Amino acid sequence: MKGTISYTSDVLLIEGGKRLRGSVRVSGSKNASLPILFATLLTKEPCTIYNVPDLLDTKTAFELLEHLGASTFYRASEAEVDPSGVHVYEAPHEVVRRMRASVLVMGPLLARFGRAVVSMPGGCSIGVRSIDQHLKVFERAGASISLKHGYVDMSIRRIRPVEYTFEVITVTGTENALMFLSGCEGRSILRNIALEPEVMDLVEVLKKMGAHIEIEDRTAIIRGSKDLKGFVHEVIPDRIEAGTLAVAGFITGGDVVLEGLRVEHMGSVLEKLRDAGAVVDVLDLSRIRVRSSNSIRPLSIATAEYPGFPTDMQAQFMTACCLAEGVSEITENIFENRFQHVAELQRMGADIHVRGRTAFVRGVERLYGAEVYSTDLRASASLVLAGLVAEGQTLVRDIFHLDRGYERLEEKLKKLGALIERAPLKKS
Ligand code: EPU
Repeated sequence: MKGTISYTSDVLLIEGGKRLRGSVRVSGSKNASLPILFATLLTKEPCTIYNVPDLLDTKTAFELLEHLGASTFYRASEAEVDPSGVHVYEAPHEVVRRMRASVLVMGPLLARFGRAVVSMPGGCSIGVRSIDQHLKVFERAGASISLKHGYVDMSIRRIRPVEYTFEVITVTGTENALMFLSGCEGRSILRNIALEPEVMDLVEVLKKMGAHIEIEDRTAIIRGSKDLKGFVHEVIPDRIEAGTLAVAGFITGGDVVLEGLRVEHMGSVLEKLRDAGAVVDVLDLSRIRVRSSNSIRPLSIATAEYPGFPTDMQAQFMTACCLAEGVSEITENIFENRFQHVAELQRMGADIHVRGRTAFVRGVERLYGAEVYSTDLRASASLVLAGLVAEGQTLVRDIFHLDRGYERLEEKLKKLGALIERAPLKKS
């Protein structure tokens, strides 16, 4: 899968007011696919990964793997990666700039080559997002790390077993550390790790590759190996896509069945949907039905690490709160700048005041269609949801953000009856 990726600058046109009905299948998880794709760098044997969503971010991951010397094949959600030819240990700025999760090559490359040179990701629209915790684990293992010309340059000769307690709970930090330590001989201990389902899916893969990993509470004991094997794995469903579609069904006054998800991963999201007044029936372990009652009740939400309420669902629930009967309080505890959708929702008539990390959302009678801009992935999703319930037409611009993490969202919404079209950007 060679070639460069150009961002689409398509727009979405949405005519609000349709109740969503019907059933739709949830795609594979973006945030589980990315670390699993990069885990292939730990072996020289071929790997097969099922249920990989077709997204800008997964395309970028394939592009990076190819750049490093792997050969990749992707069709209809099935990925094959042959990492035997990997000989490059540098991740260029041009790729890391487009996708922060590219830093996940650090751990595998350092384990495989004793060297990794990766562009420093820098800030991004949702916050500063340091990678100090990733680097501290590598440092504890004996890596020398320098920052030159915007690149983190790491090398390691003798690898020491690591005992490290994360100072903050970090998803990709935990993943990078787990991949690195799985690819090194010795027994290491990580405390205060992230327990997101995406992290656990990676753990399953690392075990299939031959690493021994035991997890109890937030502690992982890892016994790695220099000789990891290839694997076959099916990625877990995307709980954030599932949550987004569930909110869509609920706020449009609809009745939707979501298939192919894992109910066990959806606890806090389903709880808040029910608090808001949704009727959520668990049909079986992989299917839910979401219906609306007559009104939306205000919510109190505070984002937290799993199993708490996910920051990746905060923006979508804010859209729901815009139409609630009363005042909702939404506190963002994970990222310091993840309220950029507020200004756009206000342009659609929302009544939102932000004080520090908390947004106070007073429900309004209706939202009005407008031209709005996506600022990041989940913010874009919240605007699409707002468009579905707004009076009149909404035009969502810069939807390459949406395409990074949702697999043909507009097609799924259309299947449920939404009036939504993708159109090429009209140049003014
Ligand atoms: N942090 C540090 N130091 C570090 C690492 C993180 O201070 O070394 C801080 C961050 O600045 C942030 C907090 O810790 O305030 C949590 O960040 P975390 O590292 O957990 O986030 P991430 O690993 O960069 C992943 C997801 C995000 C998701 C967060 C939180 C991937 C590829 N990305 O990011 O997904 O929001 O965990 O759950 O898994 C998205 O899909 O839209 C998205 C942004």
